[in-house]
Amino acid sequence: MNKQEKIKNIELKARAAIENVYRDLERFPWTEKRAYASWLAQSYYYVSHTTRLLALAAARLPTEEQKLHLRFLSHLAEEKGHEKLCSNDLKGLGYEPANFPELPQTSALYHSVYYLIEHRDPCAILGYAMILEGISATKIDALVEQLTAQYSKSATSFLRLHCEADKEHTQENKPVLESCNDQQLDVISEEISMIETEYRTMLHGIRESLQAKADSKPWLPALSLKKAA
Ligand SMILES: [Fe+2]
Ligand SMILES: [Fe+2]
Repeated sequence: MNKQEKIKNIELKARAAIENVYRDLERFPWTEKRAYASWLAQSYYYVSHTTRLLALAAARLPTEEQKLHLRFLSHLAEEKGHEKLCSNDLKGLGYEPANFPELPQTSALYHSVYYLIEHRDPCAILGYAMILEGISATKIDALVEQLTAQYSKSATSFLRLHCEADKEHTQENKPVLESCNDQQLDVISEEISMIETEYRTMLHGIRESLQAKADSKPWLPALSLKKAA
């Protein structure tokens, strides 16, 4: 497969991954306050690693790849403090991240990209960004409107900023892919598959953790009845 075909495949794969994630986002119970709050908390945990991942990827690039190195650094500057938006929005809902401990599915989402950056190629971060930013840039405008109407602006700053900022962040994906070598394109493609699966698994994990809490309610009276008898 030549380089242009590889790039085309990556673009198609990214588009399909974004659609698949979006289908799960559509089914996510955003109107339940605890579900949205838990999603914000999980986002807080993985977004806290964005600047670290970009710093690591920038540092691991050889000096011959100065252009990409500088791109990662400028991207890093634009991502500063974004986890704070999540914790502020949580505060707007009356929660803090500690109310929703980090799920293992959330940890897996960023752990695997650390591994690929360290052991395969720093360009893995591009696959990670293409999907996460691609969703914000193309899919969440209506969701942002709906959530702002329900929860107010003070609880939706993270989503509101990203549906605008990530439109810019995704604009230069194509020229960056063209500057990558074969090995780098392979690792980007691999990361796209991983982040799609991991993000969808995280959404499922959030729903499962809330369900587990809801399911635990009926058992309490049953247990206390037994004790009383
Ligand atoms: Fe961001
Ligand atoms: Fe971004």
